[in-house]
Amino acid sequence: MARVLSEPQRETFARDGFLTIEGFADPAACRALIDRARGIVDDFDPAAVRSVFSTRRQQHTTDDYFLSSGGEIRCFFEEEAFDDTGSLRQDKHLSINKIGHALHDRDPVFDRFSRDPRLAGICADVGMADPRLIQSMYIFKQPRIGGEVVCHQDSTFLYTEPKSCVGLWFALEDATVENGCMWGLPGRHREGLRKRMVRDGRGGVRMETFDPAPFPTEGEVPLEAPAGTLILLHGEAPHRSGANRSDRSRHAYAVHVIDGACDYPADNWLRRPADLPVRGF
Ligand code: FE2
Repeated sequence: MARVLSEPQRETFARDGFLTIEGFADPAACRALIDRARGIVDDFDPAAVRSVFSTRRQQHTTDDYFLSSGGEIRCFFEEEAFDDTGSLRQDKHLSINKIGHALHDRDPVFDRFSRDPRLAGICADVGMADPRLIQSMYIFKQPRIGGEVVCHQDSTFLYTEPKSCVGLWFALEDATVENGCMWGLPGRHREGLRKRMVRDGRGGVRMETFDPAPFPTEGEVPLEAPAGTLILLHGEAPHRSGANRSDRSRHAYAVHVIDGACDYPADNWLRRPADLPVRGF
């Protein structure tokens, strides 16, 4: 497999736990994903899911909607999308938090983008023997109501033994401090995994905590990213993103890859249907 990352890039990734590559995706490729996501939301009926926000019993349905999304294309609302009466505050296109979690397998446009041979090369460059695309998300970070994502490690949600998760995060629009770009903690990926989200055996999930200490904020750096930027993220690299209170959206697409040579425990939250096994590039 041809090398994609330079030696200095590989060193930066190993040192910091993340690597920013500007200009990875051209404007037309970014546009194609933005347009396709818009089409998916066009076809999405909010009434079908909106009702699930009103009662506890229906909340459980929401959990099912999330927990069974590993092999599907599903839309999830922003927390602040609804007013007190349960009505959308703004148009549905401005109310969706994300689409997940199998865009890369269920949609041809996302499939093509996600299986770019350069990405296979990058996964090989960072030491993956058998990279497999386990999850994809389209993240809107909507203007004004785009919620913050608290500091976390992606291996918390995509755990393998040994740990192997790598995130491929693409800015489809400019991501800045104002519209909620990611923030990283250089070098902290070497401090171990703090939590793991597991199925609780009763239809829900729970967190297993290995280290209850909060993530530090000291040394945090903003990962501002012009449209087309790829940010490569180590699975144990702590990162977060701020709320978007600006009037500009911050669309991004993320694919997570795990090594097929590692064990994927059966109690991981994300499950794939039997007819859609996890595939590589
Ligand atoms: Fe993340």
